[in-house]
Amino acid sequence: MKGIILAGGKGTRLYPMTIAVSKQLLPVYDKPMIYYPLSILLLAGIGEILIISTPEDTPLYKKLLGDGKSLGITIEYKVQDKPRGLADAFVLGADFIGDDDVCLILGDNIFYGQNITGILRNSIEKLNGATIFGYPVKNPREFGVVEFDDDNNVISIEEKPQFPKSNYVVPGLYFYDNKVVDIAKNIKPSERGEIEITAVNNEYLKMGKLKVTLMGRGIAWLDTGTPEGMLKASEFVEAVQSRQGFYMSCIEEIAWRQGFISANQLLKLGKNLKTTEYGRYIISIAEEALNK
Ligand code: G1P
Repeated sequence: MKGIILAGGKGTRLYPMTIAVSKQLLPVYDKPMIYYPLSILLLAGIGEILIISTPEDTPLYKKLLGDGKSLGITIEYKVQDKPRGLADAFVLGADFIGDDDVCLILGDNIFYGQNITGILRNSIEKLNGATIFGYPVKNPREFGVVEFDDDNNVISIEEKPQFPKSNYVVPGLYFYDNKVVDIAKNIKPSERGEIEITAVNNEYLKMGKLKVTLMGRGIAWLDTGTPEGMLKASEFVEAVQSRQGFYMSCIEEIAWRQGFISANQLLKLGKNLKTTEYGRYIISIAEEALNK
C-alpha cells in the first residue's frame, strides 16, 4: 500500500495567514500541520509516500521532510500546477502508485484516538475496493455527506449538500484498490470545476465496492479550516501532550516504534532538534530504549 498526502490548495479561508505560506506548513501547536497526516500514514505502516503540492510550496516540503531517508521511509514529490480536485491526486500519482493499492490523506486532516491504529490496519487488511469513513459532525453541509437507508446501508455520498441527509461526513482519509487510478481519470469536473473524491466514492458504491467505516466519538477529527479551528486544534494538542507527557504525531517517535529506524537513529534525530522540548522528548525516548 502506498500513501499520498495532498497538500495543495490556496487556503483562502485562512488568509492572510496563507498568502505566503502553504496552509499545511502552518503550526498546529508545536509542529507543522503536515506532521499529523504524515503520522497517520506511518501508523498505518505505509513507508512509501508521495506529497503533492503547488509549484511554490513543493520546495518548502522538500526542505522540511527531504527524501524521508532519515525516517527510514521514502518520500517523493509531485507538483500540481493548479487545484483540480482531490481525485487529481490519483491522476498525478499514477506512476507513483503503479500496481499498488493506495491511501490518500488530506494534508490538513488531523486524527487522534485510542484505536486509530487498529482502524487503519483493519482497513488495509480487509480492503476490497474502497474504504472510507463516516464521522458525526454538527456542520455536515461543509463536507461530503453519507446517506444511509433504514438498515444503515450507504445509499449515496453527496458533496456539500444544502440539505444533508445525515450528520455523518467523510473525513479526508481514503483507502482504494488500484482501480482508483482509472476511475479518477474518467471523472468529469463538477460545477465547482473539480474532479471530486465524492464522484470516485460514488463509482465504487455503484460497483458495490464501497465500505464506509463509522468512526465513533472516541476519535477526534479536528478541523483546521478556520482560524478558530486552528486555535482549537493547537489547544487540543497542547492539552493532550502536557497532560500525558506523550507527544501527538511525533513522526520521529512513530518511525522508530514502527521499526523504520533504530533507536540510535532516533537519538540522532532528537539531537538535531535539541533546543526544543520536542527534540528533548525524542532524545529521552531514544535514551530510554538504548539503556534497556
Ligand atoms: C473535501 C472533500 C469532502 C470531505 C472533506 C474532508 O472537501 O471534497 O468530501 O468531506 O474534504 O476534509 P474540501 O476540502 O475540498 O472542501
